[in-house]
Amino acid sequence: MSQELKSVEYGLEKIFEGAQDFLPLLGTDYVEFYVGNAKQSAHYYKTAFGFQSEAYAGLETGLKDRASYVLKQDKIRLVLTTALNSDSPIGEHVKKHGDGVKIIALWVDDARKSYEETTKRGANSFMEPKVTSDENGEIVQAGIFGYGETVFMFTERKNYNGIFMPGYVKWESDYKPEPVGLKFIDHMVGNVGWNQMDVWVKWFEDIMGFVNFLSFDDKQITTEYSALMSKVMANGNGRIKFPINEPAEGMKRSQIEEYLDFYESPGVQHLALATDDIIKTVADMKSRGVEFLSVPPQAYYDAIPDRLKDHMDKFKEDINELQKLGIMIDADEEGYLLQIFTKPVEDRPTLFYEVIQRMGARGFGAGNFKALFESIEREQEKRGTL
Ligand code: FE2
Repeated sequence: MSQELKSVEYGLEKIFEGAQDFLPLLGTDYVEFYVGNAKQSAHYYKTAFGFQSEAYAGLETGLKDRASYVLKQDKIRLVLTTALNSDSPIGEHVKKHGDGVKIIALWVDDARKSYEETTKRGANSFMEPKVTSDENGEIVQAGIFGYGETVFMFTERKNYNGIFMPGYVKWESDYKPEPVGLKFIDHMVGNVGWNQMDVWVKWFEDIMGFVNFLSFDDKQITTEYSALMSKVMANGNGRIKFPINEPAEGMKRSQIEEYLDFYESPGVQHLALATDDIIKTVADMKSRGVEFLSVPPQAYYDAIPDRLKDHMDKFKEDINELQKLGIMIDADEEGYLLQIFTKPVEDRPTLFYEVIQRMGARGFGAGNFKALFESIEREQEKRGTL
């Protein structure tokens, strides 16, 4: 792993240099899913992931065509939206893709300028700048299409003091499961089709001003059966990271192909949510029914002290505890990281989650790719999709 990271082209300082500043991003504002039954999905995210009820819009607030539930945990905001009738683009989206991410909302200072800068560089428009207001102020939003049918929505909220957005009311609920310690979105990964990774790398560079700061080829991400390629795109301040995966030729069908077959287009593969106490977070999530990929073999954990020898003095966690939960460990020259992956959270083998705790490392767990993909292949085998 450390050798792979040494070949990285951009250090953090160079991210600032290489990136362009025509699209300053303050952070992720929210991620909106189109789902078949938002009421039940919201219950799952509250119960299993520890999200809190924040806002709601639907029939009771005057909407006729959809219902949306807004959930929050620390800085992470999810919106779950469902169609209320058959004549709905939301329903069409769910029919084609199943439950999945439709909108990645990016928090900006100026949504009109973000839209203008990206569309003049060639972005396809999803929504022209639109102002919505109520007694608490106004929100400006504008959107462009990204990979597949996924939308990047610029959200300007500097003149708004209300709950989430105009049109929403506070969602009062007596059901308040404890948070599990998820803090913010570390990165969001997209799967794209054959030979499309570099097309999207260029899209992020040209349209969004991002830089490619890490690359993994099919020789680094390979198992006995399947392979993939991945490039990590980051914005100027390094806060927003979008890795992009493309399938690569292997003996059998890779997880990326499986995703593309079942999502029926490119789209978001996983959201990585950061915690500062992964042992507690994962133990909580497991006790609430979240299913994680199976534990790496004993040999994986036996090799940890050797793989992490430069960092063992700083290493605080109990390896036995990590092993019990199936948490994986990786390191680069700056530190280490702890990570684990859920199984897909819907019946189609599409979107899943990563829980990550960074202890200085800025990588994505390349040292774990092989163990991880072998674990995914065991699941594919059961599904008959390998
Ligand atoms: Fe990840």
